[in-house]
Amino acid sequence: MTFLSSLDDTTSSTRSATPFGAASDSLAFQAAEPGEGQRWSTWPATIPTERGPEPRPDWLVTSAAAIDTELGVVKTGKEANLELIERAIPDAPVDVPGNRVLLAAKRYRTSEHSDFHRSAIYTEGRGLRRTRDVRAVAKGTSFGRAVARVQWAYAEFDALTRLTELGASVPYPVQVHDTEVLMEFIGDGRVAAPRLAQVRADAAELRELFHQVVDFMRLLARAGLAHGDLSPYNLLVHHGRVVAIDLPQIVDLVSNPQGFDLLHRDCMNVCDWFTRQRLECDAEELFGELVVEVGF
Ligand SMILES: Nc1ncnc2c1ncn2[C@@H]1O[C@H](COP(=O)(O)OP(=O)(O)OP(=O)(O)O)[C@@H](O)[C@H]1O
Ligand SMILES: [Mg+2]
Repeated sequence: MTFLSSLDDTTSSTRSATPFGAASDSLAFQAAEPGEGQRWSTWPATIPTERGPEPRPDWLVTSAAAIDTELGVVKTGKEANLELIERAIPDAPVDVPGNRVLLAAKRYRTSEHSDFHRSAIYTEGRGLRRTRDVRAVAKGTSFGRAVARVQWAYAEFDALTRLTELGASVPYPVQVHDTEVLMEFIGDGRVAAPRLAQVRADAAELRELFHQVVDFMRLLARAGLAHGDLSPYNLLVHHGRVVAIDLPQIVDLVSNPQGFDLLHRDCMNVCDWFTRQRLECDAEELFGELVVEVGF
């Protein structure tokens, strides 16, 4: 795991002064230097467009004195690793909002083994600005693969930002930089919330979960969007609340010629699972309902 420990000049001067007041206690200061598996919080060095939308949640840690600590891999996915990070101000009281938080870092893989099978259909109708990048991505050169990874990270961050602004139930997007998206960690302590696929619920709970999934799909449809990879594996359930994840491929129903096919597939995936749990769900009916909602 590589973590940057270097600082730019402006932030390092703030940091040496902030956590310990006067830098007289040099031992304390040294103890708070990032160690193995740590880095200075990347928040201060991130430009405003790479930060999450306002209003920002009160748990967000924005102090230049904060340190990020790697707590380990939560899950290795097809395209990215999900890692748990603690962002905290050393020696500050942990129960005060803004002093300490656990974050999920989704890191698009830098190895050659990542599978960017999704690229082609989803990116139709999306513009890549620089022709050099378009050619490189299309050819699959190593530069092209690097461009694609960064694009997926920014696409996911943009989608989370847009959906947060719409009021949809998604993790709050904290920051994006290079191939890393930092977002709200959905879970208890260090344990991630289960995916819908792992949840065993009674009939009443299932109905409630289904309503939340449909509400999420409806909200997106009204904004002319579909998740594009919706399934019980990309929905978390946290204390009865459904939270949608894995959004880099979010689909614009107007500009993407495959948009309605992808929306239809989302409906099939959702209904298949609920039907197997013995909750009646007609994918065609749901699709019809959502199409009527689509805002152009
Ligand atoms: N914000 C989050 N909070 C808690 N857990 C998360 C969060 N985001 C993702 N996860 C966990 O990490 C897993 C992988 O995340 P995600 O689906 O976004 O990546 P992926 O590379 O597409 O993985 P997969 O190939 O499994 O679909 C999820 O199934 C979920 O268990
Ligand atoms: Mg996933």
